[in-house]
Amino acid sequence: MKFQAVRGTRDIFNEEAKIFLYIETTAQELFLKNGYKELRTPIFEQNELFTRTLGDTADIVTKEMYVFKDRGDRLLALRPEGTAPVVRAAIEHSILQGGGAKKIFYAGPMFRYERPQKGRYRQFYQIGAEVFGVDDPLVDADVTALAVGILKKTGVKDFKLHINSVGCEACRPKFTEQLEIYLRDKKEKLCATCQERLDKNILRIFDCKIDACKNILNEAPRISNSLCDACGTKYNEYKQYLNKFNVAFIENDALVRGLDYYTGIVFEVKTDLLGSQDAIVAGGRYDNLVEELGGPKTPAVGFAIGEERVAELLKNTDDGKGYAKSLIYCLFTDKEKFLLNIDLINDIKERDFIVEYDYTFRSLKAQMKYANSLGAKIVLIIGDKEIQEKMITVKYMESGEQEEAPLDNILNSLQRK
Ligand code: HAM
Repeated sequence: MKFQAVRGTRDIFNEEAKIFLYIETTAQELFLKNGYKELRTPIFEQNELFTRTLGDTADIVTKEMYVFKDRGDRLLALRPEGTAPVVRAAIEHSILQGGGAKKIFYAGPMFRYERPQKGRYRQFYQIGAEVFGVDDPLVDADVTALAVGILKKTGVKDFKLHINSVGCEACRPKFTEQLEIYLRDKKEKLCATCQERLDKNILRIFDCKIDACKNILNEAPRISNSLCDACGTKYNEYKQYLNKFNVAFIENDALVRGLDYYTGIVFEVKTDLLGSQDAIVAGGRYDNLVEELGGPKTPAVGFAIGEERVAELLKNTDDGKGYAKSLIYCLFTDKEKFLLNIDLINDIKERDFIVEYDYTFRSLKAQMKYANSLGAKIVLIIGDKEIQEKMITVKYMESGEQEEAPLDNILNSLQRK
């Protein structure tokens, strides 16, 4: 019997794995530079952690969770997202105590039983950040700027930041009431899903991609007109701060988030290049979640990047493939010459190149072919003569040109390129 990866899951290898690693290391570097600390939570948690925090009517909770009982009869769930586990861990380990902002980042697989399609999987990877302890739109703007900064650093270009405020417990209920009044007599014209949302999770109607529903919503009341003074002021400040951070944005008052925990500012980074799965980053403020999970009242804001979607955008560009470009193949014709040159190999690695060689020391022709298949940029041929004269024969794989030069010169010229 042959086995295959389970529907909605996939193996990531070769070029794609390289891109994933590149995205993760790029993000990690930026997080560390900005004072964020990593937090790794388990892949499964008590089921209730998610049912309590994401909302009874959220799609994730009603349809998409991987829930199972372990041998000790505990009801567990594979994590569908990272925010609730990070909050759970932060409370459990008293990370939130003391003043100032507590900045946390995480990365890893999430699980949702969604209908698989391009850019949507049942196991997918997120890179996320959460900042606890400060209730100021300055933090929301800083966090948003970091998300955008990570995308830019990886090389993603065609994206737009959409922002909105979904209001707080003071103003949102008034708005949903108005929306309900507007939609009640139009119920029959809405699609079946939106008819259901009308009763259970009315804000999500704004997510509908069906034209008939979109047309009805064109005239619908908007939350931007219903924000209370506090939410309105925060939203305006957020926009001013984004300008200060030089982050371009689009105000989108139809942007609502699928999870219940948001309060106030929300944002999504979208692209036109990925079809219907167009959100590459999503986040916002959630000032009540820590308290709901038994912690002290703690304001919080964060985001998560969808790694598959970023990888898809980078796939056809040169970004994310930087490593392959600097692969240097060292060609030794026998083991002895290799053993004599271990320092040389380490020297090349120290300069941030990738080094490859053949452990079986095949013929020159076979190794050239091998170097080519690995995507080597240059091949250094290190034979007796080269060792004695400290001159290395270098073959440039793209042009096919060959020359003799001191190793330093070769590496310096490659580093400049
Ligand atoms: P989310 O919008 O559910 O938010 O997911 C964030 C991102 O994860 C999406 O924008 C998308 O790029 C990616 N994503 C979601 N589902 C899938 C899937 N099935 N396949 C591939 N990629 C997917 C959250 O998860 C919140 N925890 C974000 C957050 C952090 N808010 C505050 N802090």
